[in-house]
Amino acid sequence: MEQESERQELERLSTELFDPELLREYKRTYDDYKISFVPRLLGGFLVFCGNAVYGKKPSYLKFRAVEVIARVPYHSWSSSAYTLLTMFYSNEQKALKLSAVSEFSRLAQDNETMHVVVISKLACLEHKVNFVIHTLIPMLFAFFYFWASYFLYFINRRYSLELNYCFEQHAFDQYDEFLRMNEASLKAKPIESEFLAWYGRHPVNQYDFFMGVRNDEIIHRNMSIHAIEGLRQIKA
Ligand SMILES: [Fe+2]
Ligand SMILES: [Fe+2]
Repeated sequence: MEQESERQELERLSTELFDPELLREYKRTYDDYKISFVPRLLGGFLVFCGNAVYGKKPSYLKFRAVEVIARVPYHSWSSSAYTLLTMFYSNEQKALKLSAVSEFSRLAQDNETMHVVVISKLACLEHKVNFVIHTLIPMLFAFFYFWASYFLYFINRRYSLELNYCFEQHAFDQYDEFLRMNEASLKAKPIESEFLAWYGRHPVNQYDFFMGVRNDEIIHRNMSIHAIEGLRQIKA
């Protein structure tokens, strides 16, 4: 297990995707991936609920809620794989597969945690946070989503990963739209965060930061399909 170098590889890929041509190419790999009916339905419902509560347009406060929820599947997959390992530790091949998913989950969890911490700070600087809408609802939703993902992973691993594909695709689209809508103002806004520095990112402004986040989401989307296909997790 080489978690530190995997993390560095993820960071390298996220930075490489600042190049629009590379991003287009990387994204195209799974743009036409066919999602099964059940995760498509669940994913559509998830996006519908998000749009109903936080609006269709991207905003700091919507991102804050999205990021609270986005961390959850990675945490629940880790827990689910951990439970399954208790049953299959004597089957080395199965243990290797489960450990690979756990590794991807751990890296993505750290990455999503960085998103939620930094974006929460930015959202608080920009807007007044309503406790019920922007804190309580995402927290409750995250609780139920955790257990839904946990059991879905047990019942049908593919469905759980495909549901995440839908969610990450939506997150990517929202960040992309946000960057296009607010390019000039985001470039004029500085960003200072101790957590971001600790994570190892040093964006020059908010535009730079949100570009990195957008790229992370498309990496998460593609990695979910890599996990289904049993491919090496990080590849451009
Ligand atoms: Fe995220
Ligand atoms: Fe993500």
